[in-house]
Amino acid sequence: MNLNITCIPGDGIGPEIVAEAKKVLERAGEKYGFHPAFTDILMGGASIDVHGIPLTEEAITTARAADAVLMGSIGGDTTTSPWYKLPPEKRPEAGLLKIRKELKLFANLRPALLYEELAAACPLKEEISAAGFDIMIMRELTGGLYFGERKTVVEDGVRKATDTLTYDENEIRRIAIKGFEIAMKRKKKVTSVDKANVLDSSRLWRKVVEEVAESYPEVTLEHMLVDNCAMQLVKNPAQFDVILTENMFGDILSDEASMVTGSIGMLASASLNDTKFGLYEPSHGSAPDIAGKNIANPIATILSAAMMLRFSFDLDEAAGAVEAAVKKVLSEGYRTGDIMSAGCKQVSCSEMGSLIAERI
Ligand code: IPM
Ligand code: MG
Repeated sequence: MNLNITCIPGDGIGPEIVAEAKKVLERAGEKYGFHPAFTDILMGGASIDVHGIPLTEEAITTARAADAVLMGSIGGDTTTSPWYKLPPEKRPEAGLLKIRKELKLFANLRPALLYEELAAACPLKEEISAAGFDIMIMRELTGGLYFGERKTVVEDGVRKATDTLTYDENEIRRIAIKGFEIAMKRKKKVTSVDKANVLDSSRLWRKVVEEVAESYPEVTLEHMLVDNCAMQLVKNPAQFDVILTENMFGDILSDEASMVTGSIGMLASASLNDTKFGLYEPSHGSAPDIAGKNIANPIATILSAAMMLRFSFDLDEAAGAVEAAVKKVLSEGYRTGDIMSAGCKQVSCSEMGSLIAERI
């Protein structure tokens, strides 16, 4: 079986971590009888440097023709990089927003779980972290504020900027259905997060989520306001199973949830459309300060590749083997710098990739 995978190494540490995920996929292929074929495309700053724009039509066409996309990270230092002197629609992030929209990747899955082996890195009090947690953040990814009309004008000599937050019921319904479907395979609880005490878009969100819930009587649904959710994530993260929320709330809460695990370098993500197609990327950014030093943590990208095997290719056994190899390497005490603790063995990005590949 051939897996036609488009890769976006991207910027910063992106190329280093994607190289390790490729290594792991190749090893898993040898073991489980599939053949990953990689085609690289440029996106973000890497594309700006060559083409002047963060994503070309040709690159989108290549990605669209693939079975799945594996991405590293894009973007640079927003205060020093020349990319951020460009107009907003030509900056690295615009490429990521565009590929999500063009490929209709409306469902973003961001698992945040506490690895037993890394419990020491969890910044929460031990009485909280001892309960453990395993949260799936389902973030709507192609609507809301990030895709609404925006403008900046000068009115009577005063600068004024506007962003608009719009959701129609179809956009809400399709992400809600994904959320309930995922919950059915987990602990059967959905926490829908909104700001229904203020926003119309949230009030519609709540209504539509309740309508969808009627088809999933086994799933417990609760609603939570986003500000409370931000608090509950540090107070009692064990209460959550699936967190279902709109684009900007999901952006913010997923960063918070990942930090609570103590190791943003560990967290994978999948962005899916209505087919088996998906874009898989680590939840973290491009870390320009450590780029090119071979010290980044490739595990989030490797775990994203495992999500790809599971969601896009139904290769559950191979996906499980990759995840087990990650756990094995951690239990043997190997760590990259970001998750290093006393008594462990510090390894480079490429060593970590090889150690994981060898254990598949
Ligand atoms: C993320 C990132 C992006 C987002 C940025 C880079 C546009 O923060 O994937 O969470 O906000 O979606
Ligand atoms: Mg973000």
